[in-house]
Amino acid sequence: MRIDPYQDAPRLPEGDRVDPRELVGGGPEPVEIEIGPGRGWFLVERLAADPAVRLIGLEIRRKWATIVDRRLAARGLGARARVFAEDVRSAFARFPDACASVVFLHFPDPWWKKRHQKRLVLTPELALEVARILVPGGLFFIQTDVLERADAYESVVGLSGRFAPEGPSSRVDENPFSARSPRERRAMADGLPIVRLLFRSLPR
Ligand SMILES: C[S@@+](CC[C@H](N)C(=O)[O-])C[C@H]1O[C@@H](n2cnc3c(N)ncnc32)[C@H](O)[C@@H]1O
Repeated sequence: MRIDPYQDAPRLPEGDRVDPRELVGGGPEPVEIEIGPGRGWFLVERLAADPAVRLIGLEIRRKWATIVDRRLAARGLGARARVFAEDVRSAFARFPDACASVVFLHFPDPWWKKRHQKRLVLTPELALEVARILVPGGLFFIQTDVLERADAYESVVGLSGRFAPEGPSSRVDENPFSARSPRERRAMADGLPIVRLLFRSLPR
């Protein structure tokens, strides 16, 4: 029988309610959350860029949740950041209102064919959940190199009625968080256009 080397991947504590702030040191200050960190280098760079930041990653693949969570601990960052092997949709449903200051979604949906539509991460339901867990005025940052996806994300977030573009438009030229995701670095190296969307959540 083949044993899954990642069967003990880090998981959120059990229970209907989980407060992500308690998983990275406690305290009332909201945390930052990355959906689908993959190989996880954005987390490491973001923590280095701002010593006050506390971060939670939610990564559906047990392998990468395990590797990245261990890497954070090995670098002495485990008290400020954790990665859990979770599907963002079920994880967010357990988080309290207004527990996060920023939600990052970098290059979430590499599939662009119609039949992959049902696997999309950013659905109208998820946009509402992001708005709920953000503090009023919190930021939602999305990046993609699939241009059609950018239009779809803009419309899903806009139609939620819970966000406003951070500037004159939601499209921003640069990533303002002093950290880059692995796919972002690859897209830049390959000269691919990247669309970056920045929204601010509206007061409830
Ligand atoms: C294309 S990769 C991008 C990885 C990383 N964000 C980057 O920019 O380099 C998308 C990531 O999202 C993760 N993912 C997909 N659906 C997810 C879900 N429902 N919940 C959490 N993570 C998810 C995938 O496992 C994968 O690691």
